[in-house]
Amino acid sequence: MVSNKKLDRQKWIKENQKYMKGAFVLTILFVFILFLFGMKLPKEKTLKDKFGQKYKELVYQNRIMKYPVFQDKLLNKEIKKYKKNVWNDQSIKNLSYQVETAGNMEQIIWTKQTEKEIHKDFWIYDRKQKKAIHPTELFHHWNEATENHIETLLYLETERMIRTLTPPIQENINEQMIQDMVKKAVKEKNFYLVNQKTDSNLYFELPFQPKKLKVGIPLYQLKDDLNLELLGIKNKKETLNVWFQNQNQGRKLVAFTYDDGPNPNTTPGLLQELKKRSMTATFFMLGKNVERNAPLVKTMHTMGFDLASHTFNHRNLKRITNEEQAVEINGTVDAIKNATGIEPSSTRPPYGNYNEVTLSLLKNPIVLWNVDTLDWKYRNVDMTYQNSIDKIDDGDIVLFHDIYKTSVDASLKIADELYKRGYIIMSVKDLARAKNKTLETGVKYYSIH
Ligand code: NI
Repeated sequence: MVSNKKLDRQKWIKENQKYMKGAFVLTILFVFILFLFGMKLPKEKTLKDKFGQKYKELVYQNRIMKYPVFQDKLLNKEIKKYKKNVWNDQSIKNLSYQVETAGNMEQIIWTKQTEKEIHKDFWIYDRKQKKAIHPTELFHHWNEATENHIETLLYLETERMIRTLTPPIQENINEQMIQDMVKKAVKEKNFYLVNQKTDSNLYFELPFQPKKLKVGIPLYQLKDDLNLELLGIKNKKETLNVWFQNQNQGRKLVAFTYDDGPNPNTTPGLLQELKKRSMTATFFMLGKNVERNAPLVKTMHTMGFDLASHTFNHRNLKRITNEEQAVEINGTVDAIKNATGIEPSSTRPPYGNYNEVTLSLLKNPIVLWNVDTLDWKYRNVDMTYQNSIDKIDDGDIVLFHDIYKTSVDASLKIADELYKRGYIIMSVKDLARAKNKTLETGVKYYSIH
């Protein structure tokens, strides 16, 4: 029985040998094909970029995809999903990223490149709340006013940047094209926020041809709109100081001042327009007008404008009695205090006239001006503009009167042009702060350098 079984097996082997040889050759061939195929498979490496950010690089034929890897599993999962979608779109040849960290937020700016065009995707992820954040959530309330505000700032900033570029960024570009571009960028919320020691801006990338232009709005100009808690800002005062310094870095600074108001017909519109541009100013108000328009003055204070005294009745202080001077000066301090709870930051005696008695009564500095726009004389927007636009320089204090509509309009026209020339328009108080100067009681200032 045993020998029979053995015989059967030998016989079986003999009969099947030719098949076994075939199977062996097939296996070798299969392994070889797998090997060849393996060489052509996408290769993924884990690397670290120059900022120490871990990332993965996926290379296959003429396509390169780079994507960051974080500690956060949820975020990594979202990134993988995104990468897979990009990968499946054969037209995209290149995917790269940029990471900007601000507080608890990781912002990822994706750049997808096809043969013809570049597209950017903007992501914000909150590590603390472990969720994606919509760009509008960086702001307290995102509404039409916010959009208008940001559009205005982005437009001015873009115009400013374009003027600094040689050769010009794009042929045949006009104001309307820039405005449309800006509008679209704000509508699509193509921005990311950088909050570092020497760079605090909300950045936009505008599709100029052939190169995109990165334009930043200083965060200081958005300080009332941004949700500082979300940004993880603990010391608000210190942060705002840094933002203020960064904004003014490399810019020329000028103080705008408005006398003789407020006027309920012209001042409110001016406040809105200045606010839209994130510009401040000092208002040298008459005590009698403050008394008549106390709610408006309170609004001016709430909006962050610098409130100052232009005395009560606009009299020539040199030609009145000591008692009358006391009424002119103290009466205005009281009126402003009653309306807002604060005292005027400085005083501008009418016609720049004062004497020793004035000085004995004052509890704040005397602020005059070194650029007179002559708006009160011209009462004409273009003439006022032409008279002063080239006379203004760094540290200057410019005089307007917000009681005339023509003055209001001229001042805004001048403000926009100055901004495009690289100026920041601010109040006297802020100008002194920016120049590290303390304005002293009873001392007279024409400009601040
Ligand atoms: Ni006056």
